[in-house]
Amino acid sequence: MTRFGAEYYARYYGDGGVHDREKIAHLASAVHGMCAWWDVEPASVLDVGAGPGLWRDWYREKVVSTDVSEHACREYGHQLRDIGAWRPRSRFDLVVCHGVLQYPNDKAVTAAIDNIAAACRHVLYLEIPTTADLESVVDPDATDMDVHRRSGDWYRRRLNEHFIQAGAGLWVRKGGGVALYELERSR
Ligand SMILES: C[S@@+](CC[C@H](N)C(=O)[O-])C[C@H]1O[C@@H](n2cnc3c(N)ncnc32)[C@H](O)[C@@H]1O
Repeated sequence: MTRFGAEYYARYYGDGGVHDREKIAHLASAVHGMCAWWDVEPASVLDVGAGPGLWRDWYREKVVSTDVSEHACREYGHQLRDIGAWRPRSRFDLVVCHGVLQYPNDKAVTAAIDNIAAACRHVLYLEIPTTADLESVVDPDATDMDVHRRSGDWYRRRLNEHFIQAGAGLWVRKGGGVALYELERSR
C-alpha cells in the first residue's frame, strides 16, 4: 500500500500534525491509569496501525505493534498486518487502535472490529473520526480528510456486539471482567 509512505508520516507527524510523542504520553498514561483502576495490568498490549509507533514507544515492553504500511513497518519496526484480514492467535490485555479504522472500507472495518474483539482480553482504546467529527471537530489542516465517512452509530452497532463503551475512547470487553457502574458507561 503506497498511500502510507514516507510523505504521509512527514505530513501528519511533522510540525502541525495530528499529535506527537508528548500528547500520546498524556493519553497513554491516562489509559494505563484507567486500566489500573479497573484492576487490569496491561501485561500484553497490541498496537494496531501503529504508524510512527508513539504508543509502542510509550509501552516499550510487552507490546506488539502492527501496521499495513510497508514503509512504517520498515522504518518504525512493526509487524506487517492488515487488521481487516489478520486475527492474532493470542489475546492482549489492552488493544490500542488510534486513528486507523477510518481508512479501510465498510467490509474490512467490520472484519477489523471482529478481529480486534477476538484479540482483546479486557480493554480497547479506540479513536476514529466520524462524519460529525470530520465536519465540525477535527482540525482539517492537521487531519487527513481523505477517509471514509461513517456515523458514530455505524461503528457503535458493530462495537456493541463485543464491547461496552466507557467513554473517552475506552471500551471494555464484554465478559472481560471489568464491571462498570451504570453512570460510568454509555447505554
Ligand atoms: C493516522 S495513522 C495512526 C498511527 C498511530 N496509530 C497514531 O495514532 O499515531 C494511521 C495508520 O493506520 C495504518 N492503517 C491503515 N489501514 C490499516 C489496516 N487495514 N491495518 C493496519 N493498519 C492500517 C496506516 O498505515 C497508518 O500508519
